[in-house]
Amino acid sequence: MKIMVTGGGGREHAIVKCLGGEELYCAPGNSGIAANAKIFPDIKATDVDGQVKLAKELGVDLVVIGPDDALALGLADRLAEIGIPAFGPSKSAARLESSKVFSKDLMKKYNIPTAEYEVFDNAAAAKSYIESLEKFPTVIKADGLALGKGVIIAEDRETALSAISEIMEDKKFGESGKRIVIEEFLTGPEISVFVITDGINTVELSSAMDHKRAGDNDTGLNTGGMGTIAPNPFYTESIKKETNERIIKPTIDAMRAEGCPFSGVIFFGLMATPDGVKVIEYNSRFGDPEAQVILPLFEGNFTELLYKTATGKLDSFTDGTIGNGYTACVVVASGGYPEKYETGKVIEGLNEAGQLDDMPDVTIYHAGTKIADGKYYTSGGRVLGVTAKGLTLKAAIDRAYKAVGKISFDKMQYRLDIGKKALLGNE
Ligand code: AMP
Ligand code: GLY
Repeated sequence: MKIMVTGGGGREHAIVKCLGGEELYCAPGNSGIAANAKIFPDIKATDVDGQVKLAKELGVDLVVIGPDDALALGLADRLAEIGIPAFGPSKSAARLESSKVFSKDLMKKYNIPTAEYEVFDNAAAAKSYIESLEKFPTVIKADGLALGKGVIIAEDRETALSAISEIMEDKKFGESGKRIVIEEFLTGPEISVFVITDGINTVELSSAMDHKRAGDNDTGLNTGGMGTIAPNPFYTESIKKETNERIIKPTIDAMRAEGCPFSGVIFFGLMATPDGVKVIEYNSRFGDPEAQVILPLFEGNFTELLYKTATGKLDSFTDGTIGNGYTACVVVASGGYPEKYETGKVIEGLNEAGQLDDMPDVTIYHAGTKIADGKYYTSGGRVLGVTAKGLTLKAAIDRAYKAVGKISFDKMQYRLDIGKKALLGNE
């Protein structure tokens, strides 16, 4: 089968690796992905016309869309118009992630547990609501996509008021901040759950735990994710059952009832609160770096899973399960990320294929690398996702860190505590 993957980060590298054995293309791709697929560095994921033209020229049987912005721009719809199956939701279904107001209203209408909230489309009304609040922290969210930066946990009234000014008056996130959601602050361990669906049928993949802050012990700025482990030990059998009954099935049914059936993967961002599991947010794609830990745990025919989803035949899919064992991914970033950082640093320790010679059981997913004269150089904030498997979580974590120890570049930055909370079994 000829398959094109849209995107060029660590997540897309994990998708490409999992699709191994097929004729693979990736646009834009990156230097690590180039070892497994033909890449097209000049065609950005958000260049919808370019992506559609390329898919047509290559005559692919399937396009797997990695990033949220390409989905929100309607890439899946455009491919459908020319008869190319796409793994990823339509623009209308992708609103589950691209509009917080849409997703919160959907949850309210269909009784799906989530934080209490109010929606505002003008700053004065939002501010007077904050003045009336008695309890802090409170959570302020820009309606649209904001590169993972549109959520502000305001510890006090002053911070909340200035967040509203920044989003709605200074337009920090542009049009994404035209409307905001102000919601109740929830507590409890966070769990990421991944469900593949063709709009009716479902296949649940492994759960995972992200580490969003830049620094150890969840300090510092929010990032796209500094590491992940899977499965998430807080996703117990009873929480899984509750999540399926109260969240997963109702969400998929609700999208159908609203006339925008969801086809692709729903990434449920959940919190196990003292009052039960609640949805913090939905994403309409695989997570990055969650894909790097959940996909290596999948045992079966991944190509068939994605193709059957894209063509609405998931009911006939049988060849796939979540395998045993654990995975851990440590993200190696450029010093300064997520703020200003330098690129162009030589990465020492990787072999020609961008992996490690003496640790064949470790996979290095490339996120921001460039190759020149046979050497790898850094080219982004998040550079590598160093991923290891183990029979226990501790073994996976230890192995990932042993692998990180073999890699070096100037001002390399990574967290030392990936998986620590999961091992301790507390928040
Ligand atoms: P998001 O960008 O939507 O993934 O949100 C970023 C992070 O903000 C989440 O992973 C949570 O840690 C936190 N968060 C979002 N909403 C809430 C909430 N209602 N209560 C507590 N924390 C939240
Ligand atoms: N790692 C979080 C995300 O992909 O949204």
